Amino acid sequence: MKIAVLPGDGIGTEIVTEALKVLKALDLNLTLETALVGGAAFEAHGHPLPESTLQLAMASDAVLFGAVGDWKYDTLDRPLRPEQAILGLRKNLGLFANFRPAICYKQLTDASSLKPELVAGLDILIIRELTGDIYFGQPRGRRIATDGHFPGSEEAFDTMRYSRPEIERIAHIAFQAAQKRSKRVTSVDKANVLETFQFWKDIVSEVGKQYPDVALDHMYVDNAAMQLVKAPKKFDVVVTGNMFGDILSDAAAMLTGSIGMLPSASLNAKNQGLYEPSHGSAPDIAGQGVANPLATILSAAMMLRFSLNQPEAASRIEAAVDTVLSQGLRTPDIYSPGTNKVSTREMGDAVVKALK
Ligand code: IPM
Ligand code: MG
Repeated sequence: MKIAVLPGDGIGTEIVTEALKVLKALDLNLTLETALVGGAAFEAHGHPLPESTLQLAMASDAVLFGAVGDWKYDTLDRPLRPEQAILGLRKNLGLFANFRPAICYKQLTDASSLKPELVAGLDILIIRELTGDIYFGQPRGRRIATDGHFPGSEEAFDTMRYSRPEIERIAHIAFQAAQKRSKRVTSVDKANVLETFQFWKDIVSEVGKQYPDVALDHMYVDNAAMQLVKAPKKFDVVVTGNMFGDILSDAAAMLTGSIGMLPSASLNAKNQGLYEPSHGSAPDIAGQGVANPLATILSAAMMLRFSLNQPEAASRIEAAVDTVLSQGLRTPDIYSPGTNKVSTREMGDAVVKALK
């Protein structure tokens, strides 16, 4: 089993180091190959997603990804920005199905900014369509060159678009995921304003007829944002487009105490996947040893389960994370009085110890 390891920028290298420690402690037969991506790759090769990195990712069973981005690249041409690396990987590998679970560990109920009773036992699965929508439309603006020059016009636009097959396949993923959970799907759209999302709603309803055992409801995205903080436990599986999923998954993450806890999986039709924490590169805290490695460690567990067919190893990692939380170990993002503040490395070491 071959894994491409792409740590990226900011805290990416620190958190991926801890996840690798955990993977190595499992004694599985894994081949790990590391490559540059994002700003780090731009500095070394002049491009955030060098051809060699893309080829490595395509030739691997799975990609373990850290994070990309830094404000210092904000003025670059858009195709050279670090974020294009992750978008390019998603597009080139066809990773259309993004799983972002938001689970509130009982040990962290107090770390949430919401009242404990609203989040205790929370277990939501956000399924975000990842290769369509406005993020992959046709952009025009000041950082996009057309015919070698930048249009200096005083307007910019991006096009929002979905095709029937793109919606059908993500809808099937959502209904099938719901069949393994509490058999409820909420499809989030903006059908009251956008044609793209009226189409989305219609197609999801059509696909839903093939899953009579799953209850489907529809919610506008603004209302969904409100309901997420009002009564988050009412949700089970949420399926939505690329942009709404981007926004709602950050909000859902925070319900659980810290976005530093949340893993994600992005899969293609062959179950090849890219696994990354739901959070970003956090350049403001990079190199200080304060980043929470648990989201990346839990992403490695998802990788073992979804792409490498090692469900027992995945469960061992998840149990070890549960143990270190019960031991009261906390990186600063999940710290509360009475618990024990640890560094990124100490947290990784503790997970390894708990595994054994
Ligand atoms: C995410 C991130 C990315 C996205 C950025 C870094 C391009 O915010 O994975 O949610 O918008 O998809
Ligand atoms: Mg995001």
